Amino acid sequence: MSQIYTTEMVSSLPLIHQGKVRDCFAIDDDHMLMVASDRLSAFDVVLPDPVPGKGMLLTRISNFWFENTSSIIDNHLTGIPVSEVIDDPQLAGLLEDRAVVVHRLKPLPVEAVVRGYLIGSGWNDYLLSGTVCGLQLPMGLQQADKLPAALFTPSTKAVAGEHDENVDFEAIIKLIGRKLACKVRDVSIRIYEFASRHAGKRGIIIADTKFEFGLDSAGELHLMDEALTPDSSRFWPQESWQPGTSPPSFDKQFVRDYLETLDWDKQAPGPVLPPEIIQATAQKYAQACNVLTSGPILSDT
Ligand SMILES: Nc1ncnc2c1ncn2[C@@H]1O[C@H](COP(=O)(O)OP(=O)(O)O)[C@@H](O)[C@H]1O
Ligand SMILES: [Mg+2]
Repeated sequence: MSQIYTTEMVSSLPLIHQGKVRDCFAIDDDHMLMVASDRLSAFDVVLPDPVPGKGMLLTRISNFWFENTSSIIDNHLTGIPVSEVIDDPQLAGLLEDRAVVVHRLKPLPVEAVVRGYLIGSGWNDYLLSGTVCGLQLPMGLQQADKLPAALFTPSTKAVAGEHDENVDFEAIIKLIGRKLACKVRDVSIRIYEFASRHAGKRGIIIADTKFEFGLDSAGELHLMDEALTPDSSRFWPQESWQPGTSPPSFDKQFVRDYLETLDWDKQAPGPVLPPEIIQATAQKYAQACNVLTSGPILSDT
């Protein structure tokens, strides 16, 4: 299986952005090539080892959700094949399963987080204040409890190396205006609920997830970046979910749990991973991909 940590082999297009996982190359003013590498980030630090095949799995999962949610919201996919923008056939072949030609959008400065369950920073906020992102919750909830309804709990996009910060809806209104903020919130919850129904029928709970949106040159809202992958979501096997405990998860939580056993201060550089952790992580991403994307969509819009 091909393995890609960095993308310097894409020399025919200018690199415009290197994220923790994806590298973006300009095609023209309105289009870019987004390549998902096998880099793995944990606690916002890119780890030194690739997880072979991860970028392909992320791309497959995102594409599945983009296609199946297109009646809810437009997305950044153009459908233009990679071979149309990369002349070298060998390189195009190497990239085709992990790269997409997308509309180059103006990113909104918002991480559109939706939570169906109380875990992670949502649980921490609830313990401190009984609220999450300014939303009052019932008393007496336990860790990993299902919330009465899915909540939009946005955060602001942190600059590289910093952590995102949970904010209330008013802060999002100030950033992008009321009309757009309401649309981002409503669309995020609809996609989450749609995806949760499908995943639930496949035995997976989507505890929470994060979406990113951007505007095209006409000001139209689009879903962009990645969608409902193990990197942007917490997936739990339904059978092991039990409120009061932090459920084991399919995916990145596995590496996070391993990293928690180390004496590492969560600052770059990250630690080298043992081969068995890398292999098990690769298997978890593959499992999530197979369970979610094979067969028909089991949800209705
Ligand atoms: N269609 C798009 N138009 C413009 N920017 C995009 C688009 N899709 C994704 N992006 C941006 O490209 C970057 C993708 O790289 P990624 O590794 O996911 O970054 P991060 O480290 O912020 O998670 C992100 O900054 C994301 O906001
Ligand atoms: Mg990202």
